[in-house]
Amino acid sequence: MSGGGTEHHRHGAHRLGEPLPAGLRDAGELLDRQELAELQLRRLRQTLRHAYANVEFYRRSFDAAGVRPEDCRALADLARFPFTTKADLRDNYPFGMFAVPMADVRRVHASSGTTGRPTVVGYTENDLSVWADVVARSIRAAGGRPGHKVHIAYGYGLFTGGLGAHYGAERAGCTVIPASGGMTARQVQIIRDFEPEIIMVTPSYMLTLLDEFERQGVDPRSTSLRVGIFGAEPWTEEMRREIEERLDLHAVDIYGLSEVIGPGVSAECVETKDGLHVWEDHFYPEVVDPLSDESLPDGESGELVFTSLTKEAMPVIRYRTRDLTRLLPGTARPAFRRMEKVTGRSDDMIILRGVNVFPTQIEEIVLRTPAVAPHFQLELTRRGRMDHMAVRVECRPDATPEQREAAAAAIAAGVKDGVGVSVAVEIVPPDTLERSVGKLRRVVDARNR
Ligand code: DLL
Repeated sequence: MSGGGTEHHRHGAHRLGEPLPAGLRDAGELLDRQELAELQLRRLRQTLRHAYANVEFYRRSFDAAGVRPEDCRALADLARFPFTTKADLRDNYPFGMFAVPMADVRRVHASSGTTGRPTVVGYTENDLSVWADVVARSIRAAGGRPGHKVHIAYGYGLFTGGLGAHYGAERAGCTVIPASGGMTARQVQIIRDFEPEIIMVTPSYMLTLLDEFERQGVDPRSTSLRVGIFGAEPWTEEMRREIEERLDLHAVDIYGLSEVIGPGVSAECVETKDGLHVWEDHFYPEVVDPLSDESLPDGESGELVFTSLTKEAMPVIRYRTRDLTRLLPGTARPAFRRMEKVTGRSDDMIILRGVNVFPTQIEEIVLRTPAVAPHFQLELTRRGRMDHMAVRVECRPDATPEQREAAAAAIAAGVKDGVGVSVAVEIVPPDTLERSVGKLRRVVDARNR
């Protein structure tokens, strides 16, 4: 983001990136690493006991693995406990994973999933309060302060994005604009009229909003927005640059998943933008080798696994997220380890003629290429026994035919060199690819048609 001086002048509030005033830290944020580790162990043992005593699934899975909650005497002992997968949650649909009587469950959410039954999650009153706390903490990390207006364009409903952001922003002392997803023209009107400092939205829907600003003849850099808190789908450093440049705001990452709580499991700090601090006093992270299931040391990439430390309604023990990342030491919040920006889910990985391809790798290449817009789609087809991938990219409105041709060649070469596969690149006219109103569907798999 440019123009720090005018930014200060424009809004008259604190300077973004100033250290968090002590008065704005919650109790968890005041812990040092040693105190945090002690708290984690206490909470972990309590969670294991709670899950074992109250959820039949955990009783059976611990018994089958020959472990008891008492066997956990140090944090490292957690590795002896069995994993929990999405399939386990589905098998116990809808409420079989709940550890409290239904009368104590104050709310449920569900994640749609791509196949079959949704995954249902539940919250007690205390769970909802913890959730609001961790989202509030995430908003403060992003530079949000009491009195800021927060426009929430994550969908409200069974999806955790809207309501999770909502109560967190209220807890942070902000003024909430509960826009939810969709009705893009009206969203832009509301942003122009209500002048929020902060927007919480998927990065792909932010791009849709950006186009709408331009359609309405508004310079997106002239809006009141100073911070965007983007998550619910993978996005790259290239996307951060694109959004920051076009909107003149700070783009920071927020991560979470319904099974663990929703948004607010980890979040980036605006002053460093160097990965997401995991709020480890509530969610204990591990990284495992997705194939051998072995725990990996910090710094090594693998699949992220979470154990909830305070959840009452639906504790999760060693939940396999399928998200790929690695753990790094804390920076702006020294007690909390960071997770690197998620490159993708193992399920999003495309195996193309033996080469692993993540949509984020294509995103990096497309966003580095001149004359094309940040809108692209991947289509998989099968010809005979060979899989093919087409990368469809929109050109910018002012691109010349020569520039379009050069862009297609550059993207094909970039994918060949960087990823190691040949793909067909098709440059399509502006405004022809489907736009996101929430989580973007990047890949069209037409192989089994
Ligand atoms: O997407 C919760 C959320 C809402 C997070 C709003 C952030 C903002 P689910 O619908 O259960 O929950 O989907 C969770 O989305 O396992 C990741 O694969 C992906 N995901 C979420 N945040 C990020 C992120 C919400 N910042 C799944 N970067 C997760 C990459 C993300 N992927």
